Amino acid sequence: MALSRSAQVAIRAPLLSYNCNPLDADPTGCVHHETDGLVLVADGRITYAGPFASSRIPAGTNLHEYRDALLMPGFIDAHVHYVQTPVIGSSGKDLLEWLQTYVFPIEQRYADLDFSRQVARLFFAQELAAGVTTTLSYCTVHPGSVDAYFEEAARIGLRAGAGKVLMDRNAPAMLCDTAQRGYDESKQLISRWHGRDRLFYAVSPRFAPTSTPAQLEAAGALFAETDGIYMQTHLSESLAEADWVRELFPDSADYLDVYDRAGLVSSRCLFGHAIHLSLREWTRLSEAGAAVVHCPTSNLFLGSGLFDMRSALVAANPVRTALGSDIGAGTSFSPLVTLNEAYKVAALRGETLSAHSAFYLATLGSARALYMDDRIGRLMPGHEADFVVLDLSASLSLRERLRFADSLEEVLFILMALGDDRCIRATYVAGRRVHDRDNASILI
Ligand code: GUN
Ligand code: ZN
Repeated sequence: MALSRSAQVAIRAPLLSYNCNPLDADPTGCVHHETDGLVLVADGRITYAGPFASSRIPAGTNLHEYRDALLMPGFIDAHVHYVQTPVIGSSGKDLLEWLQTYVFPIEQRYADLDFSRQVARLFFAQELAAGVTTTLSYCTVHPGSVDAYFEEAARIGLRAGAGKVLMDRNAPAMLCDTAQRGYDESKQLISRWHGRDRLFYAVSPRFAPTSTPAQLEAAGALFAETDGIYMQTHLSESLAEADWVRELFPDSADYLDVYDRAGLVSSRCLFGHAIHLSLREWTRLSEAGAAVVHCPTSNLFLGSGLFDMRSALVAANPVRTALGSDIGAGTSFSPLVTLNEAYKVAALRGETLSAHSAFYLATLGSARALYMDDRIGRLMPGHEADFVVLDLSASLSLRERLRFADSLEEVLFILMALGDDRCIRATYVAGRRVHDRDNASILI
């Protein structure tokens, strides 16, 4: 399938991409770095990614040059609530109070399709400006909020997933459906959007406390009925939430078991946060091929806890792990900022997140968690041409600090520690430049 009708494009820049998890192997063997590289794109896909010197640029190709920057696969935001864009940075509450105070009120406004469309536009503009080219988002209970998101993603040509939130208890009546209505509306949305262009659907029970067992079962049926579909929900984000789940589901062995009993623990199931887990839950996630999504800015902002990267990634049974902004509890669209916070979360646990592991997590690692590493997350022929171009002198502190860096790993570490969305010089989707920091006129 051709992803885009855009002309052939060649981009000359230093290149960086990962072939494997630097935690599993010798990091240098996992890193594909070209100091003077070239990517060639035709019909939205990469046809060449390698040294400039060994390349041949076909006649009629548009050449873009970023010789002093760094081109990587576009970043992946695997857990985000686009509908919470208007309440990012709302202060001073733990998870359950924060949901009641800020989230449930704003989510009621998505009964209005125009409002949904406005926010979807603003959301994707911010993701692209942060270098994010794949998003997996929650919408609200309103089907129109899903339509608005997918319409905008399709207009841009993004690889994007989302789902209507399912809630049939413990939320305002205006935000509740029923097990049957949630099933029927999701089914319609799946047939409208799943597999169209680069879009994919994720069945989205918000979290166990806001769904009855009957609704979780309906979610399990939806998940089982469509090939290639996803499921996303929240898991053990805060201790108070986990206590509440124990009260609501006394027969379940633990929090994960609540989802397991409904057929919601398998490959293509993504669990946001996953902070307060038992060894049994980690082992079950690993054996099921399910994924967890680390959302450090959110976890620090709400005081939810410190994600256990070691149990996730370096245990005997590693679990596919992705990175998420979790906007609006998360406080930044920028994966560079998110990685910086992930580094600090690890530090508070007495661990270290290397720069290579961090950039792997935001690209190929997240693609693997999504079972999409055959098409995104790497610079290699046949993969979709989604790129981010990072400016290594975007701020005075970055530029000055980098003068004293003498290895790629150090450059990346400094980028993660000091970088933010100012570093995103350009973002490409399916080979088309959709964000150009210095030339707003060619924005999407
Ligand atoms: N748990 C259930 N819903 C939400 C949400 O919207 N945000 C976060 N961070 N956690 C949740
Ligand atoms: Zn969330």
